Amino acid sequence: MRVIAITGKGGTGKTAVAGMLIKYLTSGSGTLLAIDADPDSNLPDVLGVKVEKTIGDMREFMLQERDSMPPGTNKETLLESKVYEVLAETPRYDLLVMGRPEGSGCYCFANNLLRGIMDRVLKNYDLTIIDTAAGLEHLSRRIIRDVNELLVVTDGSRRGLQTAERIRELAKSLNLNIGKMHVIANKITPENRMIVEEYARELEMDLVGSVPYDEILERYDLEGRPLMELPDDSKAFQGIKGIAGKMGL
Ligand SMILES: Nc1ncnc2c1ncn2[C@@H]1O[C@H](COP(=O)(O)OP(=O)(O)OP(=O)(O)O)[C@@H](O)[C@H]1O
Ligand SMILES: [Mg+2]
Repeated sequence: MRVIAITGKGGTGKTAVAGMLIKYLTSGSGTLLAIDADPDSNLPDVLGVKVEKTIGDMREFMLQERDSMPPGTNKETLLESKVYEVLAETPRYDLLVMGRPEGSGCYCFANNLLRGIMDRVLKNYDLTIIDTAAGLEHLSRRIIRDVNELLVVTDGSRRGLQTAERIRELAKSLNLNIGKMHVIANKITPENRMIVEEYARELEMDLVGSVPYDEILERYDLEGRPLMELPDDSKAFQGIKGIAGKMGL
């Protein structure tokens, strides 16, 4: 069981990287789960999968129904079956969308159940790839406890690397038990390559690889075409293949 969360500054390309990694992994043989943990969910679009319901919807359902459930209802079993209802299955991978964040009610009860359930869900897969919102809030809330690697995406800007640096520090201070942190430089051009590499060295941050700025990818996103359909020889996908190889994926 290997669980990789993709993080990084907003707009650096986390979802695009997640989509292309999943595209790459669909040619492998292990069992694969994709999780969209961004409340402003767009991984399903990038993958070209329709998702109707989210984990957040099921958490709301539990809160609303909690008091009217017949005595003796096993709430954990019920919520677990609801989680499996949300799971979208495709031939080569499954997709779970976490959905909206909590409202103002008390979510401790549902979140505590969810933690145990998600631990079990993740154990069913050889590999889980989690696309996250910028920041580490989702990790600090710890609904998904078993993240053991971070893939931090930065772009050609200094601020992208500064965020990567903050994530490295935060991961340490939260005691997250993260075994490895990989940093990817995305949207790399001949103009920004040297600057990014030099700044990464200053921060003592090893780049696992870089993904070129790719006009085809940008056009696909603009047109709302899933990145799963990117041509295999597109520059960005070639970059991802190299990185996946280095990460042993
Ligand atoms: N290698 C690339 N080449 C060209 N454009 C890219 C590349 N990677 C990402 N983009 C573009 O950058 C924009 C942001 O990408 P994406 O949505 O993947 O970022 P994100 O980090 O997931 O953003 P958010 O923080 O909002 O979740 C998109 O318009 C996408 O098409
Ligand atoms: Mg995103």
